[in-house]
Amino acid sequence: MTMSQDTSLTERILKLKRERNAVILAHNYQLWEVQDIADFVGDSLELSQRAAQTAARVIVFCGVHFMAETAAILCPAMTVLLPDEHAGCPMANMITAEQLRQKKKELPETTVVCYINSTAEVKAESDICVTSSNAVKVIENLDNNEILFVPDQYLADYVTTQADKKINFWPGYCPTHIRIQPWDITTLKKENPRAIAVVHPECRPEVIAVADEVLSTGGMIRCAQREEVREMIIGTELGIIHRLKKENPGKKFIPASEQAVCPNMKLITLEKVLWSLEEMAPQVKVPEEIRVRAKATVDKMLAIV
Ligand code: 13P
Ligand code: SF4
Repeated sequence: MTMSQDTSLTERILKLKRERNAVILAHNYQLWEVQDIADFVGDSLELSQRAAQTAARVIVFCGVHFMAETAAILCPAMTVLLPDEHAGCPMANMITAEQLRQKKKELPETTVVCYINSTAEVKAESDICVTSSNAVKVIENLDNNEILFVPDQYLADYVTTQADKKINFWPGYCPTHIRIQPWDITTLKKENPRAIAVVHPECRPEVIAVADEVLSTGGMIRCAQREEVREMIIGTELGIIHRLKKENPGKKFIPASEQAVCPNMKLITLEKVLWSLEEMAPQVKVPEEIRVRAKATVDKMLAIV
């Protein structure tokens, strides 16, 4: 694609966005060109807060399905577009509502905590939701000491090391974050002794053990702004490097692993954003009975953070 075609694509998106009274929300892992046309780029918590507050009529969600679905849960009067309906999160699909209902029967005394990376049906079956940025705080706040955490075993494991709770976990995982290995971090730390190594809590416990800080993607963005931080080893999906470099010229950002790419996040392109606004499709909708129960689960989290 030539530069002039690219510019005209961007102009057409921005024009149509105004005509449709739409807002474009993008996750930190999106392609750089998609991040650059967004009204807001953030982590899962920040994106759901933004969705809940926006006065627009349409949300174009540049992320994966559970993120757009969370916006649809929070904003029933709005049209929520996901420019590629195949952009799912494999971890979110590692547990079904029926599996969760069965597990709850086995553990009747537990409080069910779902990671925001879950389907609306799973949220509807859960007591409270968390994101990577607030999981420890929300779980510490719960009265019950017995927790069932779904679907990410590694985030559950990390919370166990931080909060005094008994956590039963579902064996889900992120196929992208498990590609990061502890030796990726230790080798880069040796090569870059001044760098701080930050990793996402979806990483394996062995990776978390060798990191300096465990942060959500939003937490990594804030960490990079700290005066004393000049070099960072980034243990998460590679898309975040664009924003880190853009917002922090002169600082050095080293990806922990070139393998850490989420193919689903990369399905959203500028062409699909334009097409989505033109066609007002694909729309993400949640049946009302599920939406109301899932919203209660998400609202409980939003009231704490
Ligand atoms: P964040 O909420 O930290 O942005 O994480 C979302 C996600 O899907 C990580 O893989
Ligand atoms: Fe899901 Fe992992 Fe992709 Fe995040 S990086 S959206 S958890 S598959």
